[in-house]
Amino acid sequence: MAQISNTSNSLYNFIVRDGNGIKGLVDSGLLEVPKIYIQPINERINKLETKPCDMPPIDLSKLNGKEHEKVVNEIVRAAETLGFFQVVNHCVPLELLESVKDSAHAFFNMPPEKKVVYRQNVSTSLKMRYQTTFAPEIENVLEWKDYINMVYSSDEDALQYWPNECKDVALEYLKLSSKIVKVILEILIGKLGVELDDSKIESLIGLKMVNMNYYPACPNPELTVGVGRHSDAGTITVLLQDGIGGLYVKAEDENDVGKVEWLEIPPIPGALVINVGDALEILSNGKYKSSEHRVMTTSNQSRVSVPLFTLPKFTEKIGPLPELVKKDGLAGYREVLWKDYMDNFYGVAHEGKKTLNFAKINSS
Ligand code: OGA
Ligand code: NI
Repeated sequence: MAQISNTSNSLYNFIVRDGNGIKGLVDSGLLEVPKIYIQPINERINKLETKPCDMPPIDLSKLNGKEHEKVVNEIVRAAETLGFFQVVNHCVPLELLESVKDSAHAFFNMPPEKKVVYRQNVSTSLKMRYQTTFAPEIENVLEWKDYINMVYSSDEDALQYWPNECKDVALEYLKLSSKIVKVILEILIGKLGVELDDSKIESLIGLKMVNMNYYPACPNPELTVGVGRHSDAGTITVLLQDGIGGLYVKAEDENDVGKVEWLEIPPIPGALVINVGDALEILSNGKYKSSEHRVMTTSNQSRVSVPLFTLPKFTEKIGPLPELVKKDGLAGYREVLWKDYMDNFYGVAHEGKKTLNFAKINSS
């Protein structure tokens, strides 16, 4: 199939080049899904083949009490199995979470001409980017999603370059959620029997970015995806989702090894979703799982979600921790310069965990 960006497609130009986004198209009174959004059958999500993930959320406040070890074990077990879990009592005020979601709506509800400046203004583009679908230049089918990507370098830069509609709350969310990431990462690394000093831990999460995802209502959700199958590249992701639902994670059926199922991470008021990314899977020599996940669109409401991605600094070399390789007797991944990993990650359209092959040893 021809790449969409190679065709002189006026629809593509309206959505991607001119910055109207898929929201702009939906707002123009769309009645059916355009061809460039229709997924091949094997990529569509059949709700009948999914079920809700029934893992209860983990209460982080209990880390400070007599149940500390039990909570630690819950976190470790979740990271080793599904690679996803939810947390409550995480110290990010619930009012802030509401404001973050409201500000995402405020940004995307602006007219296209206000949003498009964040596509054109090259000087801000490294800190703030407005985009639609993951990688329009290389995809065969587009994802039903608009988003902004806000990269953190300093408070001053954030307040200068991020959009007024959301910068204050996004920065506060980034700071408080980063504390959760640090607590969880220290637990997960500690349970591997490895000691890393604070500066090493910091460099594993030294690159932080907040995205705001906007999935407009879709006339026929069965045909599209909000985000296609992918794993997150970084170390740990914290995700705030609203009440609409639609996030699915790939899992193996516990009772039927080899059988794949897609579990929905149900919206829980006040909870945050935590997931392991590729960097942590590599560091842990495969012990912690960076799971494949995707998002289904809905027909009557627009959905927002706000991930905080924490990633290693580009200059870090990421490979399985040497103590683990010694213990395991085998490295499942090679050491990669993190910049190279990310260049590869952004250079290919979403296709499950394929991006991990860049570091995997003996991957076919
Ligand atoms: C992502 C992602 C899930 C969601 O942005 O990487 O997986 O629920 N988002 O929006
Ligand atoms: Ni993701």
